[in-house]
Amino acid sequence: MDLQNKTVILTGASQGIGRAAAYKFIEAGCNVALVARSQSLIKQLAADPGRAKTLPLPADLSDLGVCDRVVKETLDRFGQVDILVNNAAVGIYGPSHTALLTEVRKVMQLNFFSPLALTRACIPPMKANGGGLIINISSIIGQRATPWAGGYCASKAALEHLVESMRVELTPDNIRFSTLYPGVTQTGFTRNALGKTKTAQGRVSGVSAKRVAAKLMYVAQKEPRDAYVTLLDRLFVMGGHLLPSVVDWAFQRYFQPH
Ligand SMILES: NC(=O)c1ccc[n+]([C@@H]2O[C@H](COP(=O)([O-])OP(=O)(O)OC[C@H]3O[C@@H](n4cnc5c(N)ncnc54)[C@H](OP(=O)(O)O)[C@@H]3O)[C@@H](O)[C@H]2O)c1
Repeated sequence: MDLQNKTVILTGASQGIGRAAAYKFIEAGCNVALVARSQSLIKQLAADPGRAKTLPLPADLSDLGVCDRVVKETLDRFGQVDILVNNAAVGIYGPSHTALLTEVRKVMQLNFFSPLALTRACIPPMKANGGGLIINISSIIGQRATPWAGGYCASKAALEHLVESMRVELTPDNIRFSTLYPGVTQTGFTRNALGKTKTAQGRVSGVSAKRVAAKLMYVAQKEPRDAYVTLLDRLFVMGGHLLPSVVDWAFQRYFQPH
């Protein structure tokens, strides 16, 4: 898709991958609705000179009622929605069998139900506009779960399966779906996660948020079904599918809580 003058709803725009992506979409000439809870951060992003085509939309997406408002305010300002990027998410670390159910529920609410609610709200205006693109930011560990992060991995896997159904159902309406699967990325994600135990992930340096955002631009333009940021991420997922027991063994050896 040619991104010039397209309207994008970007969730989790205040920090990390979402913030880096906001700069990229702005540079590409898009109208960008910036969604996150941190009002000051997204307002500051929108206030910089040359950012006339941005709309800060402070919202806590755990409250599903706000999803319709986010889409309505975007339509009121820009008249259409071409791309929805479901990026906002939260992690949870610790033994999966003792994780607090209230916390696992929070993870599912933000990582699964809010992308579903936003997708549902975007479909009527996208249909009316001849189609649209929905990009979900998943994770390589949504494809092959790691220990000590079961609730998070499950939330991403659930979204991936939902997309597989919706992609086929909505093809006649020209609603397209792409999924980007980052690996470890240098953001505040681990610090912001629920649960107490940090894992081996904390010891892997990972790629920059800018690099993931650059890949996201590729996804928005070329619309691949699935995309990875690095070859190692792709190999990790392939290994998980082809040699699951070997990967279990490796995880047992190297992924220790600390
Ligand atoms: N970092 C990694 O290693 C990694 C690896 C694979 C996949 N990912 C995925 O990449 C995406 C971005 O993660 P990140 O690393 O950039 O994480 P991050 O730095 O923690 O940023 C998360 C973003 O989500 C927003 N957010 C959190 N809770 C929210 C809520 N209730 N309502 C609205 N917005 C909310 C945050 O803004 P506010 O706090 O202002 O609300 C922030 O902008 C996520 O989908 C994550 O699962 C990350």
